[in-house]
Amino acid sequence: MDNKKIHISIFGGGNVATHLIKAFLKQPSIQLQQVYNRHIDKIKSFTHQTEITDNLKDIRPADIFILALTDDAIAGFSKKLSTFDTLTVHTSGSTNINALQTQRKGVFYPFQTFSKDKEVDFRQIPILVEAQNQDDLQILKNLAQKLSAHVIVADSNQRKALHVAGVFAANFVNHLYLQAAKILEENKLDFDLLKPLIMEVAHKIEQLHPKTAQTGPAIRNDQKTIEMHLKFLKNPEQKELYRILTQSIQKTYSHE
Ligand SMILES: NC(=O)c1ccc[n+]([C@@H]2O[C@H](COP(=O)([O-])OP(=O)(O)OC[C@H]3O[C@@H](n4cnc5c(N)ncnc54)[C@H](OP(=O)(O)O)[C@@H]3O)[C@@H](O)[C@H]2O)c1
Repeated sequence: MDNKKIHISIFGGGNVATHLIKAFLKQPSIQLQQVYNRHIDKIKSFTHQTEITDNLKDIRPADIFILALTDDAIAGFSKKLSTFDTLTVHTSGSTNINALQTQRKGVFYPFQTFSKDKEVDFRQIPILVEAQNQDDLQILKNLAQKLSAHVIVADSNQRKALHVAGVFAANFVNHLYLQAAKILEENKLDFDLLKPLIMEVAHKIEQLHPKTAQTGPAIRNDQKTIEMHLKFLKNPEQKELYRILTQSIQKTYSHE
């Protein structure tokens, strides 16, 4: 082993594994030692850049094993690596560090949405790291700093909180975009009409706290408009979402 380089092996061939593999291959101070996936076809494209395998018997010790596997597979799969004393991490937001059944455990959680064919800029992505002791934590911090300018030490509970916050800030918001798209389509209007508004709201929170950035009929307590909107909406689910979110906004600002 070249002692100066960090030797890493990745387990997985999905969204996160693919992005990590590509990012590590670009780093001269990282040696991507092996990539394992149970279905080898998913990692075949890396044949000429690293050693690939679907056989756990091929796996050699490394500085870090990264398990970029489905949440439910982490515990069971990690058991198969319990004979190694390699620092083994998972990449999950919502899985406790103790789910790992390995000798040395850690977490390496890149907080972004990853899809295989969509490029990402790792320098901008926060990476949350956790380990059981200071030495292992330092190893993970060093690795994360090679990829990202935003490295944060967080325990499993804080990571869970960030994951839940992400569901509100990204998944729920995207679901609301879908409702907006449906409403426009039903009225023969293009979703593109909303894009300048969506972008402005997103950019606004770079300067303003969300509490200050809120506008609209709910914060103005514009009851007539709210009733009119509720009457306009025919879809019961959209009605319910509108009602719940309006009430939540009104409650938030009721004492101001
Ligand atoms: N996608 C994101 O935006 C994102 C962001 C941050 C963190 N994460 C976390 O990163 C991890 C991976 O997510 P992903 O989006 O990359 O998932 P994914 O694209 O669905 O890939 C899942 C991987 O897990 C493997 N796998 C599933 N069950 C297995 C089992 N029983 N034994 C061995 N391997 C198994 C799959 O192998 P096969 O290919 O052989 O089926 C595949 O390589 C998860 O913990 C997720 O929470 C995801």
